[in-house]
Amino acid sequence: MSELVKRYTARERANHWFVALCFILLAISGLALFHPAFFFLSSLLGGGTWSRILHPFIGVLLAISFFGLAARLWTQNRISDADREWKKRLGDILCNKAGNLPEIGKYNIGQKYLFWTLVVCIAVLLLSGIVIWQPWFTPYFPIVLVRLAVLAHAVAAFLAILAIIIHIYSAIWVKGSIRAMTRGTVSAAWARHHHPAWYKEINKGS
Ligand code: HEM
Repeated sequence: MSELVKRYTARERANHWFVALCFILLAISGLALFHPAFFFLSSLLGGGTWSRILHPFIGVLLAISFFGLAARLWTQNRISDADREWKKRLGDILCNKAGNLPEIGKYNIGQKYLFWTLVVCIAVLLLSGIVIWQPWFTPYFPIVLVRLAVLAHAVAAFLAILAIIIHIYSAIWVKGSIRAMTRGTVSAAWARHHHPAWYKEINKGS
């Protein structure tokens, strides 16, 4: 059995999968409400009426749980000088010509961009969602703002769904990553290869 290192606590994993479940329910019910071509998807939550009732409440649950998770991971996702150096040399990296690159910490620049994209999109989805939440809040806002909120909600949802498709693809593509979020551990070889600075940091004391 190869050596294992801890990447996520049980609490972080439960939080992540609750966010993922809410996101999937929201994406499916949201598409059903967005265009008649997707209306069949409303069956998941028990039809059009139930989708319309439940979608905003699940949205609030997603926002609370997502920002709970994001608060824990906030500092580790700050973009550093090392990330900027990585970004500058992306062409070389893709052509396999990279030498002397700074070592990657807990997250690479792609993961960090994904993190901040989700932070912005989910904040926009929450705020615009409140403005268009009939009949409770919409009457308090001017019609111009309501129209802008409808547009912002659709654009943010589109970007968030795109970001999550990339997130799931990368999680499957980088072999050994999924177990970080299912079992909480990764192999030492995975940590050394993909996140050497993080591996060194967690082994500092030992
Ligand atoms: C449903 C399928 C999903 C799968 C298979 C999946 C898988 C994973 C895995 C394996 C990691 C750990 C990556 C690592 O530590 O290197 C991770 C991290 C993360 N996931 Fe997911 N995820 C899914 C959905 C979601 C959704 C819907 C969201 C948010 C809306 C989300 C937000 C995050 C965040 C914020 C992290 C931490 C990465 C960072 O802070 O940069 N995930 N996910």
